Amino acid sequence: MTLKGRDLLSLADLTAEDIQFLLTLAAQMKQGLVKPTCHQVLGLLFSKASTRTRVSFTVAMYQLGGQVIDLHPNVTQVSRGEPIADTARVLDRYLDIVAIRTFRQEDLQEFAHYAAIPVINALTDLEHPCQVLADLLTVQESFGSLTGLTLTYVGDGNNMAHSLLLGCALTGMNIRVASPKSHQPLPKVVELARAIAIANTEITITDDPSMAARGSHVLYTDVWASMGQEELAQARIPIFLPYQINSTLLASADPNAIVLHCLPAHRGEEITNTVLEGTHARIWDQAENRLHAQKALLSSLLGLVA
Ligand code: CP
Ligand code: NVA
Repeated sequence: MTLKGRDLLSLADLTAEDIQFLLTLAAQMKQGLVKPTCHQVLGLLFSKASTRTRVSFTVAMYQLGGQVIDLHPNVTQVSRGEPIADTARVLDRYLDIVAIRTFRQEDLQEFAHYAAIPVINALTDLEHPCQVLADLLTVQESFGSLTGLTLTYVGDGNNMAHSLLLGCALTGMNIRVASPKSHQPLPKVVELARAIAIANTEITITDDPSMAARGSHVLYTDVWASMGQEELAQARIPIFLPYQINSTLLASADPNAIVLHCLPAHRGEEITNTVLEGTHARIWDQAENRLHAQKALLSSLLGLVA
């Protein structure tokens, strides 16, 4: 299996086999069983804030022996209006691989169209595929396998909801997304998830968090206002409060359920402090797994492993 030279703009760019390959490789790298090396250079083009993604990509590349250039739009000509197509064609000549965090998925796609090097989605308004690779690794570590488990996402039908829909569909995990009717995942992503789902995977979109959480193996949430939506945050609190992960919701899940959150978290909003700091949470392992999953991804896209 080789992913050499490919882009990861959406989780749907991967097949079920690709994901299993990456998760196995990430687990082997985490145990120190596989240690590829490289001398290549990763560029980070981030137009939004980031702690985990920025640092885990940087450390992953350093551990592989490569180098990283952190390119903020303010220190390049991007902020002065140089077109994406021109930036992409130039950076393509210097860098070996690039991770981009931006707003519009279309901007990411345009960059990838003009750059031959692998382009990785490090979060857009539409998707956050690298986060979901780490999430799947965390679930696999907790339960031994993925197929047949049920993951419940409660909250905003945002980039996290979208990539979780696709990731669960490709790994045979049932997924229930519970969001207010006004903030459900985009129908085109739900349709894509249904189209690529492996046999018997159930995909449920509802506005009923209690029904969605019942008997679930994984409870997942994310902020109610994503980056770029800060001015909507206050108005959204009363709309989303019924979708909080708290002890009551957790009690209705499977007794061995784990709780995940991509972070950063707003305690008292989408998740209570009690649950976030409680025994069911696997949130710090999940954050650590960003490093292992992305090291596997970088190694694969750079052709260091096959
Ligand atoms: N979960 C995540 O992507 O975190 P950062 O925004 O800190 O990178
Ligand atoms: N939905 C959040 C995820 C942050 C990792 C955002 O886009 O801001």
